[in-house]
Amino acid sequence: MAEIVSKYCKEVRELGFRLEELIAESLGLERDHIRKVLGEQGQHMAINYYPACPEPELTYGLPGHTDPNAITILLQDLQVAGLQVLKDGKWLAIKPHPDAFVINIGDQLQVPFFLWSNHITALSNGRYRSVWHRAVVNADKPRMSIASFLCPADDALISPPKELTEDGTGAIYRDFSYAEYYKKFWSRNLDQEHCLELFKN
Ligand code: OGA
Ligand code: NI
Repeated sequence: MAEIVSKYCKEVRELGFRLEELIAESLGLERDHIRKVLGEQGQHMAINYYPACPEPELTYGLPGHTDPNAITILLQDLQVAGLQVLKDGKWLAIKPHPDAFVINIGDQLQVPFFLWSNHITALSNGRYRSVWHRAVVNADKPRMSIASFLCPADDALISPPKELTEDGTGAIYRDFSYAEYYKKFWSRNLDQEHCLELFKN
């Protein structure tokens, strides 16, 4: 069992790195740009267990939030759905697919690479958003999900690619270290306004 979990963690890590490289390339940045900014990335795994709840409308498994890290790779329970994402003001259920992960862009990918300046926002065309999501509970079945979080190094300085902010539009957010962001993130309520708002210039 330990061997399987260990292999899973390693494979998921490689997948996350590959996605970061492809995202960088898709924005016309050097392939290793994002990985360089994020430094030696940490990795956490959460095994979420949501017990059945006789009155599911009264509560959430997880309230609405964005993930504070760089990228999240989520393995969903195939039998019981529960994940929802906010799109155009409406909560959409994400049906579990066999042989598929759900990939969440976390705050650290949205910030430096996509929302820092108007230029970047235009470039990414809103494709890479740190999405609001939540988990609902089920009346008669418990649900499990396994989330793997890739996180920037604590001392990673999150700042926009210079070539993308030199156009004079300026940066929307000030530079910060991941440690600073993470502390702020957990000092507020999970479903409060986007934590990034606290870092606006
Ligand atoms: C999380 C998360 C969703 C789920 O752990 O951050 O969003 O479906 N989980 O369990
Ligand atoms: Ni999440």
